[in-house]
Amino acid sequence: MPHPLLDALGVADHPRVVEPGGARGAGFVVSTNPATGEPIAGVRLDDGASCERAIGEADAAFGRWREVPAPVRGQVVRAIADEYRRLREPLGRLVSLEVGKIASEGVGEVQETIDIADFAVGLSRQLHGCTMPSERPGHRMYEQWLPLGAIGVITAFNFPNAVWGWNAMLAAVCGDTVVWKPSLLAPLTAIATNAIADRVAASMGHEGVFRLVIGTDEEVGERLIADRRLPLVSATGSCRMGRRVGRVVAERLGRCLLELGGNNAVIVEPDADLDLAMKAVLFGAVGTAGQRCTTTRRLIVHESIADAFVESLVAAYRGVRIGDPLDPATLVGPLVNERAVEGFEAAVRAAREQGGEVLVGGRRASVPGSRGHFVEPTIVRAPASGVLPIAMEETFAPILYVFTYRDLEGAIGMQNAVPQGLSSAIFTSRISSADRFLSPSGTGSDCGLAYVNLGTSGAEIGGAFGGEKDTGGGRESGSDAWKAYARRQTCTVNFGGAFRLAQGIQFGEEQ
Ligand code: UN1
Repeated sequence: MPHPLLDALGVADHPRVVEPGGARGAGFVVSTNPATGEPIAGVRLDDGASCERAIGEADAAFGRWREVPAPVRGQVVRAIADEYRRLREPLGRLVSLEVGKIASEGVGEVQETIDIADFAVGLSRQLHGCTMPSERPGHRMYEQWLPLGAIGVITAFNFPNAVWGWNAMLAAVCGDTVVWKPSLLAPLTAIATNAIADRVAASMGHEGVFRLVIGTDEEVGERLIADRRLPLVSATGSCRMGRRVGRVVAERLGRCLLELGGNNAVIVEPDADLDLAMKAVLFGAVGTAGQRCTTTRRLIVHESIADAFVESLVAAYRGVRIGDPLDPATLVGPLVNERAVEGFEAAVRAAREQGGEVLVGGRRASVPGSRGHFVEPTIVRAPASGVLPIAMEETFAPILYVFTYRDLEGAIGMQNAVPQGLSSAIFTSRISSADRFLSPSGTGSDCGLAYVNLGTSGAEIGGAFGGEKDTGGGRESGSDAWKAYARRQTCTVNFGGAFRLAQGIQFGEEQ
């Protein structure tokens, strides 16, 4: 019996979906519920040949899709958004079932895809290029943004629906087609998400715009990144993965859009609204069980309020309910798998060895009647020296490292002292502190995202999303991030008819 959610989403008899018992051998993967350890369904994997076929289909579809006027492409995206609206609940619940985030966050993730689709619909009439004055009489200059090609999209398990949405919805209105390689930890969400978009587009006469390849890095990932038919590869995941993608795509002079690890800090000033800061740090650090790239991993709190603030935070942590992500009372679901639990345990061990003090949590959590991968949300106080090497790393688990500071310059220095540069936040009621943090000289936060009196996670889709340094430099989602999915062409037209060279160059006869 296929899971009822797969039925509700119309993919119970999808050719890739099989009974868990039938998913034996290298050609299959079993998707498992991380809250219970139980299999949900088996999924047939792509091999080299089917991956080649999918890329070929997306490439061929690009030839047709680019000819469709952008506002008409927008209408297709609009119909896709309507279908996601209709299926928001079951799709959100499937996200929760497969990766363990709580139901409200699962549904919120699908909402994020709906939001970016709506944004893309508007954008489909606003793919503006600018005009610029020519230095030559009788000449006109402008730029236009053209479809780029079939785009490779690689996504991580933690946002198995929305990160594809950010890429695919923008790519689609820009005239590109998409080949998506999702995480092997969330193949069912990918199948449902892609099938919905593909079904709607095909019903409107546009086959092949959305293609899905599910497989191992060796068989599918390496093929995708090396394929010259994919002029852009947008990849979300670990820094290690991003370095590999970056190298291979650069070798063929393709383009990359990388959104990699974060190591996000919140600075709490003594004048901050501490209740507000507390709520934001709690959601930022334990929400999604610490498995967002934007998760708050470091708290940098002023020494004069540190003890009291940390004490209340510890109390708040003790009240957090851990358990079944589909139970509305739960705030923290499981980690995605056993390896993630081992990573959590190793980080806590390292923190202790390095002089950190575990103030709360630090252990595997037991949820009665479940074999899920639960851990306790954890706070580690750094030693007085402020040296805690493990805090330089991103561990995808709910561990918050606490540091104290004396002056804001020192706090900003600590916030910037990690290899990653995704998200950052300050809580303060002083405009001078906020503006110092956002200094226009760039000497404040060095991250792609900077928040004042908000936590580090939970970005809206309207802004460009991404970060600097080891985070990879890419920008997805709102603002003008769409330009990554388009080809810029500078057009110069000589309507005056006279032969004129720029820079006043004379060549041959008098001008
Ligand atoms: C991610 O964790 O890869 O800002 C994306 C946020 C979400 C997106 C997170 N809107 O937390």
